[in-house]
Amino acid sequence: MAAAQEGYPKLFSPIEVGGGKLANRLVMAPLYTGYAAEGGRPSPYLIEHYRMMGASGLAMVVVESVAVKVSEAGSHRMLRADQDGSTEDLARIAEAVHAGGALACCQINHPGRFDMLGGPVGPSPVDVSGMVPRELTAPEIREFVQAYAAAARRVKEAGFDMVELHGGTGYLLASFVSPRTNQRTDAYGGSLEARLRFPLEVLEATRQAVGEGFPVGYRFLVNEWLPGGFGPPEDQPVAQALEKGGVAYLSVMGGTYESFFLPEVVERTSQDGYMAEPTARIKEAVSIPVMTAGRISHPALAEKILEEGRADLIGLARVILADPDWVRKAREGREAEIIHCRTNCDACMTQVMGGRSVICAAWPKEKRTEVKQKLEEA
Ligand SMILES: Cc1cc2nc3c(=O)[nH]c(=O)nc-3n(C[C@H](O)[C@H](O)[C@H](O)COP(=O)(O)O)c2cc1C
Repeated sequence: MAAAQEGYPKLFSPIEVGGGKLANRLVMAPLYTGYAAEGGRPSPYLIEHYRMMGASGLAMVVVESVAVKVSEAGSHRMLRADQDGSTEDLARIAEAVHAGGALACCQINHPGRFDMLGGPVGPSPVDVSGMVPRELTAPEIREFVQAYAAAARRVKEAGFDMVELHGGTGYLLASFVSPRTNQRTDAYGGSLEARLRFPLEVLEATRQAVGEGFPVGYRFLVNEWLPGGFGPPEDQPVAQALEKGGVAYLSVMGGTYESFFLPEVVERTSQDGYMAEPTARIKEAVSIPVMTAGRISHPALAEKILEEGRADLIGLARVILADPDWVRKAREGREAEIIHCRTNCDACMTQVMGGRSVICAAWPKEKRTEVKQKLEEA
């Protein structure tokens, strides 16, 4: 075992993130599972899933995106942090993660133009995939700022160690930063500084709500991979503005629902470590820890990315879902036994987009049957 750890000295070295001590560089990147029950309450299997992830040897688990605001139509299967009554449910998830020794972080989000229940909202009524979001008014934007802050407070009260603002996937925060979807002419649109105003106000209010010493991370969409969309060279100044605003770490991602299925993006994202280069650009620009995620299927690749200084943290989403023993196998020199997330398999993404729960196609048949049964029983 010691010999194998020597094989990945960087991967299994500790790091401090916003004052929190991570035992190694491996983090579960948020992965919406659809395991919550209708209405957004945790199901028994959702708790079991996070208990398993917390015990997998990862240093920290970032729990999938949790709603900061829910319309009267409900939340389907999205977990909730939108009311004080949500805190108890969140506490059960934090406890499940902690039981196995990992730190627990919770991602908070509003889907913005992808809010299928409350109706799509965004900075501007720009047609995206045939849907036109309703333009938020300035008072509504201020309400959203408070909603994120209140949700973060609940995450802290629930016993989590950190909170992460979801600035990815084209959801509400990202839609303000993008010149494609934000065409406002008021203080929240136009220049990069104005497009950043909403995320920075959310960050500031969130930091105040959780107080000193409670780290606030940020999922950062560095490139939409869309014509006229957000991307370099604006990625570096945004990273610097977020650092200045007090984020504890940046978790880098690429693409939105509009680009995920474009042939050139499918080709790009089928490559191992496909976000390592875009992440390296961010790492050059800031001094806070930076996380990369994206098909980091092999421990040796993870080690190489860290060694080359392209990231400080390795995020695993589908990779750790496919094989919850990934970390143990890496530690123990059993890399050959790792069950890999299948390239060009969109099963999990297709399932969640269709409103279903994630059943990983790489799992052995018995596990797929067992998880399906557990979800049906709930
Ligand atoms: C089914 C599915 C659900 C996801 N849910 C989230 C989410 O809730 N929040 C988020 O920031 N990213 C989410 N992601 C993106 C992952 O965190 C990650 O960046 C991406 O899948 C690449 O890492 P991987 O190759 O290890 O899966 C999701 C990805 C998939 C496939």
